[in-house]
Amino acid sequence: MRLVVTGGAGFIGSNFVRYMLAEHEDVHIVNLDKLTYAGNLENLRGIEDDPRYNFVHGDICDAVIVGKTLRGADAVVNFAAETHVDRSISGPQDFISTDVLGTHTLLEAVRRLEIPRYLQISTDEVYGSIEEGAFTEESDLDPSSPYSASKAGADLLVLAYHRTFGTPVLITRSSINYGPYQYPEKIVPLFIANAIDDLQLPVYGDGLNVRDWLYVDDNCAGIDLVLRDGVPGHVYNIGGGNEVQNLTITHRILELLGKSGELIRYVTDRPGHDRRYAIDCSKLGGLGWAPQVPFEAGLARTVEWYASHPEWWRTIKSGEWREYYARQYGGTV
Ligand code: NAD
Ligand code: TYD
Repeated sequence: MRLVVTGGAGFIGSNFVRYMLAEHEDVHIVNLDKLTYAGNLENLRGIEDDPRYNFVHGDICDAVIVGKTLRGADAVVNFAAETHVDRSISGPQDFISTDVLGTHTLLEAVRRLEIPRYLQISTDEVYGSIEEGAFTEESDLDPSSPYSASKAGADLLVLAYHRTFGTPVLITRSSINYGPYQYPEKIVPLFIANAIDDLQLPVYGDGLNVRDWLYVDDNCAGIDLVLRDGVPGHVYNIGGGNEVQNLTITHRILELLGKSGELIRYVTDRPGHDRRYAIDCSKLGGLGWAPQVPFEAGLARTVEWYASHPEWWRTIKSGEWREYYARQYGGTV
C-alpha cells in the first residue's frame, strides 16, 4: 500500500508512522508535513533510513505540492492540523487555514486523482460537552472552541464530498490521546516536564473537567483498522473508556514522579472550557477493535518516557515554546 500521511511529524502522526511500519511489511509511507512549531523530525528519529519511508516538506494548503505528493497513492490519512485549543482562542486564523482549507485542498486532490481511500483524523471535541451519557457517531456537532469548530467544519466538508461526489472518505473521531512525542503544551507532557523541574502545574478552573484518555497506540490500531475495514462515508469514534478528571491525572503524575501536591496552582479557567467529553465506541468495537492499554499502565509508561527523554522536551522548551508559555500563563506559574 502506498500511503500518504499528512502531519506525520506531530504527536499522533509520528506514532502512526512507526506503528504502520512495524505492523505492515508491505506499506510505503510518504509523510507530508509543514513542520510548524508542533512538527518535529526528532519524533521520527531512527526511521529516516527505512526504504519504505519518505518525507516531503510542505503545506496541505498548497494545491501544487499536495497534487504531486498524492499522485499514485492508494490511501491518504490526514493528521495535519493546528491542534491546541488554547492557541485557537488566542489566534484562530491558522486553525481555519489548515484545518478547514487544508482539508479542502486534500479532498480536491483526492477527487481529481481518484485516490481510492481518504481518512480524516478528527476529534471527540466536535460533539461538544455532555453532562451524562455518551455521543454516538450520529450525534449532532456542537463545537465550543475555534479549534473544535474548525475540525467540525472539516468533518462536514469531508462528508459532503462523499454525498456530492462519491469521494471514498472515512472519519475517525478519537478522544484525547497521551503517550510519547506529544508537544509539551498539552496537559500530560506539560505537567510531567514541569513536575520534573519542580515548576508549578497550572490547573484550569476547578480541575474537575473530564476527558476520556486514550493511549496513542490504541488510537493507531483503531485508525489502521478503519483504513482497512471501514465503510466509505462512515464516521468511527475511538475512545479509551477512561473518564478521568484533570485533577486526578495531575495528582497521579505527581505521585509517579514522587513530587508534592504543593506544585498544583489553580489558574483562570479556559474560556468556553468543555466540562466533559464522552463517546460511544461500539461501532468500532463491531469491527473488532478494543483499547489494549489500561490507563494506569499507559500513564506510568508515558511518565517514564518523558523522564527518560529529557533532551527531547528540553530542546523544545528552549525554542518558540518559551514565548508561548509566557503568553499563555502570563508569569502566573
Ligand atoms: P500535533 O499538533 O502534535 O501535530 C500536528 C502536525 O501537523 C505537525 O507535525 C505539524 O507540523 C503538521 N501541520 C500543521 N499544519 C500543517 C499544514 N498546513 N500542512 C502540513 N502539515 C501541517 O497534533 P496531534 O496531537 O498529533 O494531532 C493529530 C491529529 O489528531 C489532528 O488532526 C488532531 O485534530 C487530531 N486529534 C488529536 C487528539 C489529541 O489528543 N492530540 C485527539 C483527537 C484528535
Ligand atoms: P489539553 O491538553 O489542552 O487538550 P484538549 O483541550 O485538546 O482536550 O487539555 C486537556 C484538559 O486539561 C482540558 O480540560 C484543559 C486542561 N488543562 C489545564 O487544566 N491546564 C493546562 O495548562 C492545560 C494545557 C490544559
